[in-house]
Amino acid sequence: MRSVLDINDLTVDEIDGLIAVAEDIMSDPDKYAHACDRKKLATLFFEPSTRTRLSFEAAMYELGGHVLSMSDAASSSASKGESVADTAAVVSSYADIIAMRHPKEGAPRVASMHATVPVINAGDGGHNHPTQTLADLLTIHKEKGRLGGLTIGFCGDLKFGRTVHSLINAMSRYPDVRVILISPEELKLPGYVKKEVLNKNKIPYVETKDLLEFMPELDILYMTRVQRERFFNEEDYLRLKDSYILTPDKLKTAKNDLSILHPLPRVNEISVAIDKDPRACYFKQVLYGKYMRMALILKLLGVDV
Ligand code: CP
Repeated sequence: MRSVLDINDLTVDEIDGLIAVAEDIMSDPDKYAHACDRKKLATLFFEPSTRTRLSFEAAMYELGGHVLSMSDAASSSASKGESVADTAAVVSSYADIIAMRHPKEGAPRVASMHATVPVINAGDGGHNHPTQTLADLLTIHKEKGRLGGLTIGFCGDLKFGRTVHSLINAMSRYPDVRVILISPEELKLPGYVKKEVLNKNKIPYVETKDLLEFMPELDILYMTRVQRERFFNEEDYLRLKDSYILTPDKLKTAKNDLSILHPLPRVNEISVAIDKDPRACYFKQVLYGKYMRMALILKLLGVDV
């Protein structure tokens, strides 16, 4: 029984294998329509979500399986004080696999220690979001045909943005990757990610406050939302929330084949005028997330199609 709590729980070969399966599902979905007949996925979401929960659920339905959905902590026994550990043990009696989102870093790991079925981290606090990373990697692979040899700019809230932490982790394992970190001082990438991921893997990186400085060099621009829910005071959030707003004029010096990604939800940081630009990939990214979650569910349930 195997859980995925961090993108490092998957080897590069396994990630490449998931991409291959996701692409096969996209080309022949009927082949997979009964792959998870009679299997049940429980989505335990202690924090709001649109994409991650619904794409996990759509993924399981499209594999022929069933879904038990908990979308609101207030309607569960967590509101009476039940622990994550007990919840995971209990839900293991009902479901074959669990996807959990929680505001506390490490909660899905605790769940995995008490569950008797695989647990997938669907986002834990400001820490990790490995299945968003799988969606991001498939998007990059589809757009660029490779995951190495790329310059990727991360822009916005690099401190609390769990999708940024997970994607940097994943990209650092591919060759010839260069990272540009674009953020205000207060929202810089945490030191532990720089030390344990970028420095350890000898990934060249620069930090800047200026979105335009490295624009002509970028192959990928990964925009992020300032994570209001992680701030201790509203004043700081209001001061920082519009630090970067991508508008068409800011793309004047960008490559013609730049790929613009965003894990969504978007608030203000990408103008809707960009949506029709062929370089905007964020809605495709949402769809790819469903296929990667299908591939991951198959892998963790040991289903071979
Ligand atoms: N990208 C992402 O995690 O979106 P949701 O919060 O809507 O799940």
